[in-house]
Amino acid sequence: MVLKLENVALRRGGKWILQNINWQIESGQHWVLFGLNGAGKTAILNLLNAYYFPTHGKVNVLGMEFGKTYLAERLRKQIGFVSSSLQEKFHPGDNAFEVVLSGAYASIGLYETPTDDIRKKAVELLENLGCIEYANRNYETLSQGEKQRVLIARALMAEPPLLILDEPTNGLDFIARESLLEAIEGIAQKPDGPTMIYVTHHVEEILPAFGKTLLLRDGKVFAAGNTREMISSNKLSSFFQIPVDVLWHNNRPLLSKIQ
Ligand SMILES: Nc1ncnc2c1ncn2[C@@H]1O[C@H](COP(=O)(O)OP(=O)(O)OP(=O)(O)O)[C@@H](O)[C@H]1O
Ligand SMILES: [Mg+2]
Repeated sequence: MVLKLENVALRRGGKWILQNINWQIESGQHWVLFGLNGAGKTAILNLLNAYYFPTHGKVNVLGMEFGKTYLAERLRKQIGFVSSSLQEKFHPGDNAFEVVLSGAYASIGLYETPTDDIRKKAVELLENLGCIEYANRNYETLSQGEKQRVLIARALMAEPPLLILDEPTNGLDFIARESLLEAIEGIAQKPDGPTMIYVTHHVEEILPAFGKTLLLRDGKVFAAGNTREMISSNKLSSFFQIPVDVLWHNNRPLLSKIQ
């Protein structure tokens, strides 16, 4: 088991942000965490990364139960985390290769001399993610889409058993988005790859490898289960509380509002 949340509730700033969250992820499953703005998606991720402590309930991630064995540092080293908010935090002069290398040490910036094996692995990941041609470019000069690829390669350096992608396609155009999604699908299809959680509020980004979906609404689990059942006209019409149509085409869902 990769994670288990039992009756989790979170109260911050005098407000219940999450209530009665039950969620279990088995190894090898890939999940979409789907919800509108303010639903509590980032709050859940902060619980998983041990940045927030649950007000009620139990959070167990990769066999570590918060409160009992409170090992935030050790836990964070085992979770690959890619979000657009992480982008700002790199050293101005670092090139893409150095940013990826730093993933081996879970550090922002490179303070150690990487071994040959680590350098070889970084090159392999840059190749897999299609970013080898800009490996020597200053990270800050890369486009949004190029940066996201570098960040995913960086997250994979530590071979994390769990990889969380928080809206990785933010700010990407159609072509950049689709090619990033293709790279993500490639990682998800690898039998020895990490378990993945893909956080989004766009139905169109849900990839075939993500067979499970949790629908989060107003800080509560609206429904969770097989993606095909969750991302359906019926389910999403009651989720959004407006009539919508979901059309599956080329193994991907398309969403439109019924006029
Ligand atoms: N520290 C806090 N104090 C008070 N309210 C908070 C705090 N953190 C989050 N919230 C509120 O909790 C709710 C859930 O926020 P969260 O950031 O988890 O939403 P989200 O699902 O990630 O949304 P988005 O899709 O916009 O990123 C929001 O209403 C937010 O304003
Ligand atoms: Mg968020």
